[in-house]
Amino acid sequence: MKNINDIYILGIESSCDETAASVVKNGRQILSNTVLSQVDIHKIYGGVVPEIASRNHVEAIDKVVRQALEEANLTLSDINAVAVTYGAGLVGALLVGVSYAKGLCQASGLPLIAVNHIEGHICANYLTYADLEPPYTCLLTSGGHTAIVNVLDYDRYDVVCSTVDDAVGEAFDKAARVLGLPYPGGPQIDKLENQGEASYKFHSVVISNGNFSYSGLKTAVINLVHTAEQKGEPINKADVAASFCHAAIDGLIERLAQVIAQSGAKTIAVAGGVGANGYLRKRMTEFEKQGIRVCLPALALCGDNAAMIASRGYYLYLKGEFADLSLNACPTLKLRGEKPSR
Ligand code: KG4
Ligand code: ZN
Repeated sequence: MKNINDIYILGIESSCDETAASVVKNGRQILSNTVLSQVDIHKIYGGVVPEIASRNHVEAIDKVVRQALEEANLTLSDINAVAVTYGAGLVGALLVGVSYAKGLCQASGLPLIAVNHIEGHICANYLTYADLEPPYTCLLTSGGHTAIVNVLDYDRYDVVCSTVDDAVGEAFDKAARVLGLPYPGGPQIDKLENQGEASYKFHSVVISNGNFSYSGLKTAVINLVHTAEQKGEPINKADVAASFCHAAIDGLIERLAQVIAQSGAKTIAVAGGVGANGYLRKRMTEFEKQGIRVCLPALALCGDNAAMIASRGYYLYLKGEFADLSLNACPTLKLRGEKPSR
């Protein structure tokens, strides 16, 4: 039974290769979370093909939204607002969700809320930890973003450091590709990491100004594999995967430790697809020995989903931050407060 004081947000996400819709109550409780992945389609091409992604979103979006409402046992008349991802992401893919949400709001009279995908990833923590409130420090590790962010409030972020080139997820996918592993490569490297030894030594991804650089690590893996191929020497894929994984993650943990030591943060969290990585999660829990609370989003909420978008939408709803029908997709949208470093 719907309580009049409860706020129900319908979230819609289509920024990359997942068509997703979800209903979230009061920003924290997931009533439904439908994700239709296109991974099997894009696997054939070794990565996401933007136009194919857009076409598949168009076909799927209405069905996915209806399913999310049905699973939540609600109708549109129970919903308080529609929150949609408008960036960052693939422009054509984003436009499908944005246009659908605009049409839905126009037809139903519901308010429209524009959500930043990265801010959504951070909110996956609120869905996993009902009592978590800012301030805390968040390690942002996605396919397009890598940063350490002090989350000062629900709307205020202080980006302490970020990548100057590739994002960590992107590096995982590229390293996996050169190792001949199927797309998406991150989970494949994660599996192999367990079976290998981190016997190859790579340079740190932390650069002198305290930011991250992943292009050198990516090139080092490519060179290692190509040199071995040219010499006809076998490589142990699991060892390369483990070595890459440790180098990619250890730098993040090292910088996070420095940031915490300076700020005295008592709570830390992870956001983004690479947050599902087993080695990263293990290394994060080491901070608990220092009496720090470590928040790791549920595995299903690390990758793209619409529940995180609905959660973020709830906090914008409380602020009365609504969009109008001129809302457009913004493929390069930054986190509020993020300096352009790339
Ligand atoms: O956060 P996300 O959806 O990307 C953006 O919003 O940009 O995360 C996708 C990224 C991909 O690069 C994928 O390979 C990586 O997250 N990923 C992983 C794992 N699962 C997903 N990387 C390492 N280990 C994993 N288990
Ligand atoms: Zn994402």
